[in-house]
Amino acid sequence: MSRTPFVAGNWKMHKTVAEAEEFITALLPLAGAVDDVQIGVCVPFTAIQAVVDSTRGSSIEVYAQNVHEAEKGAYTGEISLAMLDELEVHGVVVGHSERRQYFNETDAALRAKVPAILAAGLTPILCCGESDAQREGNETEAVLRTQVVEGLADVADEDLAKVTIAYEPIWAIGTGKVATPEQAQETCKYVRSLVAERSQEAAEAIRIQYGGSVKPGNAAELLSLPDVDGALVGGAALEADSFAGIIEGARA
Ligand code: 13P
Repeated sequence: MSRTPFVAGNWKMHKTVAEAEEFITALLPLAGAVDDVQIGVCVPFTAIQAVVDSTRGSSIEVYAQNVHEAEKGAYTGEISLAMLDELEVHGVVVGHSERRQYFNETDAALRAKVPAILAAGLTPILCCGESDAQREGNETEAVLRTQVVEGLADVADEDLAKVTIAYEPIWAIGTGKVATPEQAQETCKYVRSLVAERSQEAAEAIRIQYGGSVKPGNAAELLSLPDVDGALVGGAALEADSFAGIIEGARA
């Protein structure tokens, strides 16, 4: 089964509205009409409206970087799905290791967030990944099993393929230490096998991104791997030229 590659840039806590608009102005002539790669930018809440407006009519989709699972309520500082949907975002990245590590995002919360995002008609990108110590201790598969099985537990089998999973080994994030093609392939294949335990059909259709020090120079090799269907990119997605270079790598 051929899966459309999906490359998303996760801006994290970068870019004011003015900087975001400058980036989109630079990206549109480079990638705004690409139709063989799905392209997303994961934008801080404050710049979402501006980026939705400036990408309208292009092939660039806009994602938020977090959402609360409740419909509404007394959750100071949080953002609901209705608020995001009103801005016409395409989806939400959840479970990033930085949110797990610094903001205590738990598998239990993700178990509620992923189906809530789908119920709102949006696309979840569910992140998973092991630490250096966990890989060294041969715990990678156990860690990924917990994160993926829990995160998808309350998604119906027929909706599983609407989720994108981003495999991001923590030791590769922002370190310049990219996973080897063998590590990326083997681990993404394992993640796909976890989906196959629920539905073989969904496992064949679901997109699994690799993330962690993806750059224009290594994107083509990583994205050519059979179980790597795209990339979730941090640092190299902050400049339009290098993000466009990674998108080109997905087309190679
Ligand atoms: P880097 O591409 O900067 O390693 O970050 C990866 C990441 O965390 C994307 O979500």
